[in-house]
Amino acid sequence: MKILCLGGAGFIGSHLTARLLKERHTITVVDQDHEKIQEWVGLDNLRIIKEDIRRPDWGLMELVQDADVVIDLIAYANPGLYVKMPLEVFRLNFTENLKIAEACVALKKRLIQFSTCEVYGKTPASFMNGHLLEADDPLHATFSEDTTNLIMGPVNKHRWIYASAKQLLERVLHAYGLEIGFNYTIIRPFNFIGPKIDFLLSENDGIPRVFSFFMDALLSGTDMKLVNGGHNRRCYTYIDDAVEAIYRIIMDVNGVCNREIFNIGTPGNEISIRELANKMQDIYVRRYPRTDAPLPQIVDVSGEEFYGKGYEDSDRRIPDISKAEALIGWKPQWGLNELLESTMDYYVDHVNTTQAKNVSPLKETHI
Ligand code: UGA
Repeated sequence: MKILCLGGAGFIGSHLTARLLKERHTITVVDQDHEKIQEWVGLDNLRIIKEDIRRPDWGLMELVQDADVVIDLIAYANPGLYVKMPLEVFRLNFTENLKIAEACVALKKRLIQFSTCEVYGKTPASFMNGHLLEADDPLHATFSEDTTNLIMGPVNKHRWIYASAKQLLERVLHAYGLEIGFNYTIIRPFNFIGPKIDFLLSENDGIPRVFSFFMDALLSGTDMKLVNGGHNRRCYTYIDDAVEAIYRIIMDVNGVCNREIFNIGTPGNEISIRELANKMQDIYVRRYPRTDAPLPQIVDVSGEEFYGKGYEDSDRRIPDISKAEALIGWKPQWGLNELLESTMDYYVDHVNTTQAKNVSPLKETHI
């Protein structure tokens, strides 16, 4: 298959590219950076185009025309950015992504669009101020693609601009499907984790996701910061499980993915951020006994202090994955301990190698 993978050198993209190359597909990756897929440069079934899709007339139509399927992974997906530069987050995640979708519409190409579990927003329990009966029942936080209401915070909490942009893009794709039979599939990732997820703070002054903040703290001995008490919960999914699901959606051997939305996540891997900090410390002490940095302190910090004004959070999100199980026969395999160990191993090795070779730092632009 000829696959155009936009953002194919980001975290998810680099793992997906590896799988597609292994299966002998012909891939064109468009990305600003290609450090995460450096090891495959030169393979005859991989073409890499270093490009910023915001540049006018950069050649999108020709590439879409040439592809059997288009995968769009281009996004700003780190909460720190939603607060720091909301307009640019809207522009990239909606305006620029819409151009890709409309190119696929015009040229009648199948599109696999990455969205986010953030479109679900908050749980009913979070805004009922303790008035919801059995508020902690996981059912209140278990989100299904086609039936769950999407609950965003107020406009002055501009963290939600990202979720709103993604939601609007999903709605536009749905409308194209409805009105002209456009062939698309939407994927909503639930906190994928694995090697290359983000840069470490010591190597980049950006704002990564929580795993990298904590990993960096462990490696450097600086504080692990719990935003608003670290009470919010996430369900982590190992990248290999995620890539298996994505691959099945791309292949769509039973022809069941057209105009469908899929949650891809691991409901059994739920953990609060406070528990995550403790678990990463435990693994670190047990697994890397010879590192010399002292264990970091775990300290509390407010969301505004950490991210800036306009921050608000998803309190809890558990994926209902019954559709993925039923339509593509997918079930995640990786438990929480093993996925954290595998990801932490990568970063410990990466830092050792970087220090030994003094190679250039990792950067993160796309999901
Ligand atoms: C982000 C994106 O917004 C999602 O679109 C994406 O699907 C998701 O990452 C992902 O990785 O898949 P979020 O889970 O909020 O969502 O991102 P993190 O930055 O990893 O934050 C998770 C939680 O940890 C939040 O409650 C945050 O406040 C907290 N946090 C973060 C800390 O307590 N300490 C830190 O140092 C960093």
